[in-house]
Amino acid sequence: MASMKLSAPPATSQWIGGGRSTFERRVSLLPMVRRGAVAPIRAGAYTDELVQTAKSIASPGRGILAIDESNATCGKRLASIGLDNTETNRQAYRQLLLTTPGLGDYISGAILFEETLYQSTIGGKKFVDCLRDENIMPGIKVDKGLVPLPGSNNESWCQGLDGLASRCAEYYKQGARFAKWRTVVSIPCGPSALAVKEAAWGLARYAAISQDNGLVPIVEPEILLDGDHAIERTLEVAEKVWSEVFFYLAENNVMFEGILLKPSMVTPGAEHKAKASPETIAKHTLTMLKRRVPPAVPGIMFLSGGQSEMEATLNLNAMNQSPNPWHVSFSYARALQNSVLKTWKGLPENIDAAQKALLVRAKANSLAQLGRYSADGEAEEAKKGMFQKGYTY
Ligand code: 13P
Repeated sequence: MASMKLSAPPATSQWIGGGRSTFERRVSLLPMVRRGAVAPIRAGAYTDELVQTAKSIASPGRGILAIDESNATCGKRLASIGLDNTETNRQAYRQLLLTTPGLGDYISGAILFEETLYQSTIGGKKFVDCLRDENIMPGIKVDKGLVPLPGSNNESWCQGLDGLASRCAEYYKQGARFAKWRTVVSIPCGPSALAVKEAAWGLARYAAISQDNGLVPIVEPEILLDGDHAIERTLEVAEKVWSEVFFYLAENNVMFEGILLKPSMVTPGAEHKAKASPETIAKHTLTMLKRRVPPAVPGIMFLSGGQSEMEATLNLNAMNQSPNPWHVSFSYARALQNSVLKTWKGLPENIDAAQKALLVRAKANSLAQLGRYSADGEAEEAKKGMFQKGYTY
C-alpha cells in the first residue's frame, strides 16, 4: 500500500451505484481512521486540582450556598424587606451570610456574583478569606445571563463565552475554584430541538474553558417549573436535555471527574393539577439521573427552583434513602435564603438571629444529604412556596 499512488485510481477499479470506486472509498476512509486512532487528549494543567476541588465540594453532609444573584436580582431580594439596591446593602447582606460562624460544617462551596468575589467585610477581610477559614470553596457565576433565542418558540439562550477564558483566569487568581453557568429550558415553549442543542453546546464549551483555567464547572441546564404538565413529561424532557449535555461534554473533552451538575428535580409543572410526593419526585429524578449521568461525575447539587425551603429539603432527603453512584446534595439559593431575609429585615440587631436561621436551613439540608432529615417542628415560613412564573435569576 505504501507505494500506492493516490492521484489516479487503478485501471481495474469498479464503479458502484453512488459512482465511487472501492479505491476512492478506501482513500476517503484513511483520514477518519487516523483521526479516531491517534491524538490522545492532553491532560490539562489543572487535572488533579479539579478532581480535588470537586471532591471537597461533594463531601458528606455538605452542599452549596448559592448567593450569586445578579445585582438586579439581589435588588429584588432586598426590596422584599424594604431595602434599597445599593452596593452597601448588597455587601451587608452578603457579609451576614458569609460570616456565619460554623457555616462550613454544612456548606462546602458558595457561589458568588463577581461584585462579591472582589468585596470584603466592613472590617476589611476579603470574603474569599472568610470562606477559606470555614473550609468553604469560593465559586463564581460566569454566565452573562439569558437573552431571546431567535428562530425558537420564544425560548432563551445563555451568553458569556466571549472572553470567558481570561475572566476565568482572573477569577482563579482572586481565589475562585469553581464556576457556574445557568441556562434554562422551558417545557411549555416546546422545548425546541434548537433551544436544547444550544443550551447543551453552550454548557459544554463553558465547562471545557473553565476546566482549562482551573475552575470546576457546575453544569446547570435548569428545566423550569413553569407549566401544567405531568411529571412524566418532565422526565422525558430532562432525559433529552441531559443526553445532549453529556454528548457535547464528551465532544469537548471535558473531564467528568472534575465537574458538578446542578439539575432541577423532576417534578410536575408548577401549575399541574396534582402535587407529587417527595418519594415520587425522588423516584423520577433518580431514574433520570441513573439513565443519563456516568458514575465518574462526583456530585449532583440540585437547585431549588421555587420550591419551598421545606419541600426542597424533603425531596433531597427522599433521594438519599439508599446509596447513589454520586454525592447527591444541594446548591440552593431561594431555599436557603428565604427565612434568613425575613429574619434579618435589614436591621443590625437581627444579624445573629438571621445567621442562626441560615444555620437551621443549612443543617436541615446537610441531614437531608445524609438521608436523616425530619420535617417535625419546621417553621411556617419554611413551608411557603417561592415559585414565580417566568422567574429570571
Ligand atoms: P434556586 O435554588 O433559587 O433555584 O437557585 C438556582 C441557582 O441557579 C442559584 O445558583
